[in-house]
Amino acid sequence: MPKLIVVNRQGEEKAIDGDAGLSVMEIIRDNGFDELLALCGGCCSCATCHVYVDPAFADRLSSISEDESDLLDSSDWRNEQSRLSCQITLSDDLDGLRVTIAPED
Ligand code: FES
Repeated sequence: MPKLIVVNRQGEEKAIDGDAGLSVMEIIRDNGFDELLALCGGCCSCATCHVYVDPAFADRLSSISEDESDLLDSSDWRNEQSRLSCQITLSDDLDGLRVTIAPED
């Protein structure tokens, strides 16, 4: 079971086991991080699941779609590590993936 390391907005870090095949958003949400609102439920239409991905994993992620990029543009907090966590599927290849929940817009 791949591990996911989540850093919340207070800077606290927690390692959780996630099922491969679930989105990073689902794993974060199901583990009690209520600051990740994920209002649209993963339909790539709200941007409230915004996270920063550790650059060490950047080349292992699926590429960013136009829709995802457009939504991220609506955030004041976008940077080069930004992704929508509902668009990242956890896999064994991403074991140890470290994400930081972005500030709220
Ligand atoms: S949950 Fe809405 S865009 Fe990810």
